[in-house]
Amino acid sequence: MHLQSYIRSLLLATLATTVQLCATAAVDPIEPPEIKGFEKNIKENSRRLNEKNRNSLVEMATNKPKEEEEPKYFQEPGVAEAGHYDGRFYTGFVTDEERQKTLTHLIRAWLRWTQSQGIETWLAHGTLLGWWWNNHILPWDTDLDVQVSEATLKLLAENFNMTIWNYNFEGDNFQRDYLLDINPYWVSRVRGTSANLIDARWIDKTTGLFIDITGLSETNGVARPGIISCKNLHRYKVEEIYPLREVKFEEFKAYIPNSYEKVLIKEYRSKAFTVTEFSNHDWQPALGSWVPKTRFEPHRLYRLRNGKMMKIKIDDPRGLEAVPPPTFWQLVRRLVYW
Ligand SMILES: *[C@@H]1O[C@H](CO)[C@@H](O)[C@H](O)[C@H]1NC(C)=O
Repeated sequence: MHLQSYIRSLLLATLATTVQLCATAAVDPIEPPEIKGFEKNIKENSRRLNEKNRNSLVEMATNKPKEEEEPKYFQEPGVAEAGHYDGRFYTGFVTDEERQKTLTHLIRAWLRWTQSQGIETWLAHGTLLGWWWNNHILPWDTDLDVQVSEATLKLLAENFNMTIWNYNFEGDNFQRDYLLDINPYWVSRVRGTSANLIDARWIDKTTGLFIDITGLSETNGVARPGIISCKNLHRYKVEEIYPLREVKFEEFKAYIPNSYEKVLIKEYRSKAFTVTEFSNHDWQPALGSWVPKTRFEPHRLYRLRNGKMMKIKIDDPRGLEAVPPPTFWQLVRRLVYW
């Protein structure tokens, strides 16, 4: 009898350690997946910094363009509904699936590259809202938004304009080239004719899809000290942005404004946190994701509260009450507690 209980406690202790070890190993979500050749390309591109652009920028800053002389810098294809494609690389609309995949890798590459260069940037607008819901891009989004400080914008303009970054994501066998293009009218920090509200773009050269990059500047330090705004007149208190918070977005390390809820409510009102039906998608708490209403696989296996397994249509409200089947480690943990 004694021996039996001794063996049992020994067994449980071993199991508990294993579970604990696995649990610790599983929680480090921030470490980004490998991107082949990324570091090497960064170094190569850094060497090829464009001296000519640097000089033209200094000229530009001293001869600040007047509003009436400001043509629109970034050109879209001029096709209806194609405003989210760069005109130079647009070859037609991509499928929803291709768009989502392209945007996911666009932001991953941007996060990875900026962090490798020590460049500060944070999620903004709809991209920030996507993070708030589930750390992912909102599935209906057609472009992405990030912000930078004016100092960072200057650094990008002076050092990295028109550089191209090769990206090779082995997990997905996904290779792309991204172009960082800085609007020369970034030096003018007022709205002007509103032709140049976007300061820079990180562009997928294969599809023309992009991330909009906008800088925040203190445009009126006398009347509004400590208020920074973009050229589209979104205004923030400095302490709403800083210090930035570290989060996870699309499995990569990212940063968001300090008062992210305030920032989101100002832009979208609190309905942004409560509306669970949007753009032909439903929020499914049981899945923690936005699910398209017309889904090819309409059923999913759930465990109901009474323990019964059941196939439930994705948009069936009973799915909200159900929880997905337990994972392997949840099962092991149950065994230990027994
Ligand atoms: C970036 O390079 C492009 C192409 O050479 C040029 O048209 C643009 O003015 C440059 N932007 C800046 C900020 O220098």
